[in-house]
Amino acid sequence: MYDLHMHILPGLDDGAEDMEEAVEMAETAVFGGTAVCAATSHGKLSKFSLRDLEQYLAAYRKKLEEFRRELTRRQIPLQVVSGMELLADSRLLEYAESHVLPGYGTTRTILVEFHFDISFRRAADTLDELQRKKYRVILAHPERYDFIRQEYQRARTLFRDGVILQVNSGSMEGRFGRSVFHAADYILGEGLAGLVASDAHDSVLRTADLEETARILDLSYGNGAAEVLLEENPARILSGRHII
Ligand SMILES: [Fe+2]
Repeated sequence: MYDLHMHILPGLDDGAEDMEEAVEMAETAVFGGTAVCAATSHGKLSKFSLRDLEQYLAAYRKKLEEFRRELTRRQIPLQVVSGMELLADSRLLEYAESHVLPGYGTTRTILVEFHFDISFRRAADTLDELQRKKYRVILAHPERYDFIRQEYQRARTLFRDGVILQVNSGSMEGRFGRSVFHAADYILGEGLAGLVASDAHDSVLRTADLEETARILDLSYGNGAAEVLLEENPARILSGRHII
């Protein structure tokens, strides 16, 4: 399986604290059936000048290389692709303009998140603006935003506008409360989700184990749901193809 949303690189954000925990997360992922993951550390770009951003990206690449070497040394069969979870704010659009936003690998597909209480209008406008600047946009955990929980139809609007919706495995399991669970269920049930990912932050609570997630997907949304949302579509995203 593929897991395109993980905070697995140590020391860059509120995910893995050190290399030991990052390795534990990788082992959990592999144990649950994941073969490819993306190390999507938080990218709060508003705090960076362009020069600071370049330094942060360089530090990120260095950490990624270090982590890959560690996985090879320990013979853990997990392929790690680069990526970032970008917090959408005014500066993000500025950086989108200068084409420096880090996508998955070498693609122009970016994973974007908002503050949970952002208005629908502002979120939709920002996503639209990013698409106009020729980025393919994945919205992280739509089910967790107030504007979606208040009106599920808005997920359909974003879907129709070409935004790829990424549901969190924890939301499906009720980890973020009842209303998030119901919003996730609506998005998955209506076929609006493009992919599911763990958004794993550690090796104990928000883990990278997708085995149970795959089972729930097939049981609740039809045989084949796990294949599309955890394999086929993420693979297509990484190779720049259209999703199904
Ligand atoms: Fe995340």
